[in-house]
Amino acid sequence: MTMTLPELPFSKDSLEPYISKRTLEFHHDKHHNAYVQKANQLIEGTEFEKMDVEEIIRKTAKDASKSGIFNNTAQAWNHSFYWNSMKPKGGGKPFGAVEKMIREQFGGLEKFVEEFKNAGATQFGSGWAWLILEGDKLKVIKTGNADTPIAQGKKPLLTVDVWEHAYYLDYQNRRPDYLSTFIDKLINWDFVNSLL
Ligand SMILES: [Fe+2]
Repeated sequence: MTMTLPELPFSKDSLEPYISKRTLEFHHDKHHNAYVQKANQLIEGTEFEKMDVEEIIRKTAKDASKSGIFNNTAQAWNHSFYWNSMKPKGGGKPFGAVEKMIREQFGGLEKFVEEFKNAGATQFGSGWAWLILEGDKLKVIKTGNADTPIAQGKKPLLTVDVWEHAYYLDYQNRRPDYLSTFIDKLINWDFVNSLL
């Protein structure tokens, strides 16, 4: 299928002061858009043209000769998931089904926060930190560059982009501060609950 750049699910100034309008202009309009356009160029006229995005990602994940298609398609998917992982006035204490699971499986919010922040902070270079569901268990993982849990058929619930383009204009080298802010002020727990 031809991919299209989705609209952000919030206005570009609505995450301020935590993520600036300027960051979102570059991140969504330039970076995310470039992945979508490049993926469309690369799949045009190939067997992948008729597949849905997740199928393309799964089919190209382990094929080095298809790394361009994988990288651009996975990055397009990851960014759409990341936008949904945030909302204005989000973050802080979880509620609903995910609150119960975090409490029972991590032993409380603090342990989840520690693991999630650690995954993002220790991802060397570019990549993503994730909360995923394996069976009925929550798990925190990290992936490098464009890699994505859906390449392995895993079910993501939440992600944070730790590529420098996600935070450098607002936080420069302070990735841990960006991660803390994401957790405290931006996580869209409604979105996470909608996936459980
Ligand atoms: Fe990004």
